[in-house]
Amino acid sequence: MRYLDVDTPTRISKIGLGTWQFGSKEWGYGDGYAGSVARDIVRRAVDLGVTLFDTAEVYGLGRSERILGEALTERRESVFLATKILPILPVAPVVEQRAVASANRLGTRLLDLYQVHGPNPLVSDRTTMRGMSALQRVGLVGEVGVSNYSLPRWKAAQEALGTRVLSNQVRYSLADRAPEKDLLPFAAEAGRVVIAYSPLAQGLLSGRYDRSNRPANRVRASNPLFLPENLDRANELIVALREVADAHQATAAQVALAWVIRHPAVAAIPGASTVEQLESNAAAADIELSDDEYAALSAASDRFRPVTGRAAVPAIVRARLRR
Ligand SMILES: NC(=O)c1ccc[n+]([C@@H]2O[C@H](COP(=O)([O-])OP(=O)(O)OC[C@H]3O[C@@H](n4cnc5c(N)ncnc54)[C@H](OP(=O)(O)O)[C@@H]3O)[C@@H](O)[C@H]2O)c1
Repeated sequence: MRYLDVDTPTRISKIGLGTWQFGSKEWGYGDGYAGSVARDIVRRAVDLGVTLFDTAEVYGLGRSERILGEALTERRESVFLATKILPILPVAPVVEQRAVASANRLGTRLLDLYQVHGPNPLVSDRTTMRGMSALQRVGLVGEVGVSNYSLPRWKAAQEALGTRVLSNQVRYSLADRAPEKDLLPFAAEAGRVVIAYSPLAQGLLSGRYDRSNRPANRVRASNPLFLPENLDRANELIVALREVADAHQATAAQVALAWVIRHPAVAAIPGASTVEQLESNAAAADIELSDDEYAALSAASDRFRPVTGRAAVPAIVRARLRR
């Protein structure tokens, strides 16, 4: 495993574990997964040196936090535990009360990283960060983070907190490189962290899916990347991933992760449906891509132009009705 170069009491692994899948019906992994596989994934991750564990109060409506907390128990001290508040009305007293509820579900007295799940268009970060500041003062929260924030809003949150907002958790993968514009340069320069979510584009970049084998669950039914046309369009990128993977005796998914975390300010938090996937993802931290390989993958990603936004809506509706 490799770790970020930032000064936190517990070091942050470059490959973490995302736990939206835990107990969330929309992933469709079932009771066996929530009841035992998820726990096995967490424990194996700790054994492999993974320290960054990401959850949120909204995942499985609290079930993800509970499953993660129960799986960690005596391993709690060795990890960097991150959760998020759903910012429906993130005024200071609500922030404080919700952090306590999350900590209780996780069975911990410290949230190493407490993140605002997304920017609230009506509530300013000034009141939200007042709550965060109080939580830091009483020692319930270590670091404050945000998620899905633009750079100006990340900076405004920092200004409101009066100290660092360590991280911004955003979608980042070979299928979506928006953070390269300004978030990554800022993080690198200011000693902040970009936490890459959906680093495998929800499994697309594993190369496991195509037009005749589309994943069946609610999350991916609403993700335009899994429309038949976009799966066709992704083929060239998958071929490029497989070519590099062959040279490293690795898989396409591992190379996709290695590409994401090559940037020094980035940690990735892939989800996993099996212990084997988790093991494979953790091992990706040790793959060193050459400059040429990195450039070839970036070029293949530039050529990948999926149909997204409004143009994809009719096809998503049609695909959902057909299920
Ligand atoms: N802050 C936010 O707004 C936000 C939004 C989304 C996600 N997140 C966080 O980010 C985490 C990860 O994102 P994500 O779950 O959306 O997408 P992801 O990590 O890109 O994809 C996860 C899925 O990819 C497949 N997979 C994982 N490892 C694999 C491997 N080695 N080989 C083949 N397939 C593999 C699995 O699905 P199958 O096996 O079923 O194909 C798994 O459920 C979440 O758990 C959550 O913690 C945060």
